[in-house]
Amino acid sequence: MDALQKVLKKHSIKIILPLLSLGLIYWIWVSPPKYLGYAPDQPIPFSHRIHAGELQIDCQFCHTAVERSAHATVPDTATCIKCHQDDAGDSVNIQYLRQTYQQGVPLRWNKVHDLPDHVRFSHRPHIARGFQCSECHGAVETMDRVEVVTAFNMGWCVNCHRQNSDQDPATIGNNNTVHLTECGTCHY
Ligand code: HEC
Ligand code: HEC
Ligand code: HEC
Ligand code: HEC
Ligand code: HEC
Repeated sequence: MDALQKVLKKHSIKIILPLLSLGLIYWIWVSPPKYLGYAPDQPIPFSHRIHAGELQIDCQFCHTAVERSAHATVPDTATCIKCHQDDAGDSVNIQYLRQTYQQGVPLRWNKVHDLPDHVRFSHRPHIARGFQCSECHGAVETMDRVEVVTAFNMGWCVNCHRQNSDQDPATIGNNNTVHLTECGTCHY
């Protein structure tokens, strides 16, 4: 009994610290998916079901930068006006669209997906690797209002990175996907 107390007194920090960090990592891992189902209101009820679904406009017609940069970018009103200048409806929403365009006031779209600043994400390597938009964003072309359909937490990213990592020590150094699960890959 005495011996145990002695050990604990002397080494408790060495025992508690690792336990705490394990707990922290576990907590981050399973932390509830706070983004799942998030679908904010928008200044104009823009429908992907109509545009990307029925009209079959290509995603990259509007999200032009997705292949070459970190951000997919949301289109400016000039992109909408290409079709909505005199055509394609005359509802209050379309009138509002034309009016703000004439006044040069940009529409303030609310972000649906928004990771914290300490996370490094870029669309480019994922699109280059051949992932479809739906892999991470779901069937956007069926949505009247874009919604977050995956957990979008750390575990979600790491799971896919692990599946795509080659952890065989024999090939470490030869395979550029080995580092996919390292902290620095996704954190600044
Ligand atoms: C006609 C233009 C247009 C087309 C085509 C289009 N989008 Fe969008 N997209 C927008 C606009 C405008 C927004 C911002 C408003 C909103 O969130 O609904 C947006 C928002 C999004 C968002 C949410 C952005 C955020 O804030 O996180 C995703 C994801 C998205 N689009 C994916 C797609 C995919 C996938 C396709 C193809 C299946 C597509 N879009 C086709 C115009 C378009
Ligand atoms: C590997 C997963 C993944 C794939 C594949 C993917 N996205 Fe994203 N997308 C994300 C993440 C993560 C964010 C949030 C980025 C942030 O908050 O910094 C995002 C954000 C967006 C946004 C909001 C603007 C921005 O860039 O932050 C749009 C629009 C978007 N994606 C469209 C698309 C389109 C269109 C495709 C297919 C061409 C696509 N995404 C493919 C994961 C993905
Ligand atoms: C390639 C052509 C095209 C582009 C680009 C386009 N739209 Fe449309 N949009 C249409 C058509 C066609 C309809 C269906 C019109 C109808 O049913 O009367 C439509 C329907 C709509 C509607 C619902 C119908 C209504 O009268 O209210 C809204 C709102 C809308 N678009 C907003 C936008 C916004 C915002 C953008 C830019 C982000 C945009 N559109 C880009 C062609 C386009
Ligand atoms: C559907 C699977 C999948 C998901 C989900 C995913 N990734 Fe990736 N990611 C990959 C693959 C595969 C690569 C390697 C691409 C290549 O071949 O270069 C990659 C590459 C990256 C890179 C570039 C690494 C480098 O240095 O080359 C970053 C950064 C990244 N991902 C961050 C993220 C973040 C952050 C998330 C979550 C928000 C995420 N990824 C979600 C599969 C995924
Ligand atoms: C594949 C990408 C990826 C890798 C690898 C990764 N993370 Fe993360 N991490 C994320 C994302 C995305 C978030 C933001 C999750 C959220 O907002 O829910 C995050 C969040 C965090 C947070 C903050 C938790 C919070 O609640 O905001 C910490 C701390 C963290 N990661 C530490 C680490 C450590 C330590 C490692 C290495 C063992 C690591 N991460 C590896 C993607 C990654």
